[in-house]
Amino acid sequence: MRQDHTAKPTSGQASPHVLPSGPWAPFLLRMLRASFDRSKSMSLDERRRQYGSDFTLKLPMFGKTLVISEPDEIRQLFKADPAELGNTEPNLGRVMGPGSLFALAGEPHRSQRKLLTPAFHGNRLAEYRELMAAEARAGMAAWPDGESVPSLPAMNAITLNIILRTVFGAAGRDLDALRALLPRLVRLGSILAATPIPSWTVFGYAPWGRFNKMRSDYDAIVGRLIGAARADPAIEQRTDILAMLIGARYDDNTPMKDSEIADELLTLLTAGHETTATTLAWAIERLRRHPAFLDKLVARIDAGEDDLLNAFINEVQRTRPVIAFTFRKVLADGYAVGPWRVPRGMHIMIGISLVQTDPRLFEMPHAFRPERFLGERPDPYELIPFGGGVRRCIGAAFAHMELQVVLRTLLREHILEPTSAPDEQWRSRGVAFAPGQGGQIVRHPRRPTQRPI
Ligand code: HEM
Repeated sequence: MRQDHTAKPTSGQASPHVLPSGPWAPFLLRMLRASFDRSKSMSLDERRRQYGSDFTLKLPMFGKTLVISEPDEIRQLFKADPAELGNTEPNLGRVMGPGSLFALAGEPHRSQRKLLTPAFHGNRLAEYRELMAAEARAGMAAWPDGESVPSLPAMNAITLNIILRTVFGAAGRDLDALRALLPRLVRLGSILAATPIPSWTVFGYAPWGRFNKMRSDYDAIVGRLIGAARADPAIEQRTDILAMLIGARYDDNTPMKDSEIADELLTLLTAGHETTATTLAWAIERLRRHPAFLDKLVARIDAGEDDLLNAFINEVQRTRPVIAFTFRKVLADGYAVGPWRVPRGMHIMIGISLVQTDPRLFEMPHAFRPERFLGERPDPYELIPFGGGVRRCIGAAFAHMELQVVLRTLLREHILEPTSAPDEQWRSRGVAFAPGQGGQIVRHPRRPTQRPI
């Protein structure tokens, strides 16, 4: 593997910075070239073929970045001390606010996660099951019989309703307002978060102006909901996440401020719906192209068994991860990972899609074979759709249960029509990667089997 030795004086470190090679051109130039010349792929997979499993890239918001997909190195990064490997900068806190888990690092991040974690524990999750099934049923009712429609809009509506009800409990006018506002806020927020658009005014045009207006509408609605919850004499009996956060206390026994609660709720509402919806749209896209597997899965679900369903979810998340990478920032100079010595301040990109298609780990990595996971507990450093370590997705168990419940409801109550259409291509939707045609579905009603969801 070619290397690039950048011998910079470092604070008391003897070793020079050693980094792997990568394309010399900045991201925007490579994108421009690829738009003129179809043979110039922008994919990470192509870079891996060219440079090996680790390489460098020049990215718009992070500059020169080390991309890692060696499993042992990923293991090390996920286990690293947060004092050595910290949070990305800039991060999604730009959109979700300074109180968001995405914005926090070190001790404030740890103590905030501790307050949120109980909402995603096993016994709590079980309480959400019926609500998830009811929302799935309602969202799918709008699909026409026998016509091809994109499944993503309905999946987005289903997962948004699920997370809204989980976070706030009972429905009401304010929830309707959030239901209308959040998809627009998420769409614009994820574009702003993923591009180096300045937050200041340029020639009278404020690129963030529209977003800031939506954010203040959000704050007004959520402020009312927090106020009502604080005044609710029956708050102790409530099981929603807002009620839990109002009762939560930091280690020094102080409660969360309203602004912290508002940022954290926005974090859960936004991180917690489009990712799951997009995975569901990919699941439909995959099932319709693998009719023999679809028949087997339906039979297994009808028999009340979850083994093949879980294997299927793993394979969808392995081959079609909606978040293709995650980042960490190096805080210790000359940080050693594998053969590399990384300077302080540089970002490391963990290639989720790369490690999950490594032929050394997964036989025929690009083939769709859910059975590979039957009877296997996936290695948490090789199948990493939810990232890992202290920043691993806090909603992973919630999302997995939601995927199970929505897919079970779909396959028990609908017949999916297979297709011989080509695979849908990946399309970037800001932060997440979605099927290019929205996961087209053709379905017919099915007499449901009488089993509890
Ligand atoms: C299929 C669905 C989902 C996928 C693929 C997904 C993926 C991810 C990934 C890759 C990360 C970054 C982890 C890292 O850097 O190591 C993350 C973080 C996060 N996710 Fe998810 N997620 C999903 C669903 C959810 C749900 C349902 C929620 C909440 C209800 C949620 C809330 C969060 C939060 C709050 C973080 C930040 C954690 C932190 O920084 O401590 N996600 N997610």
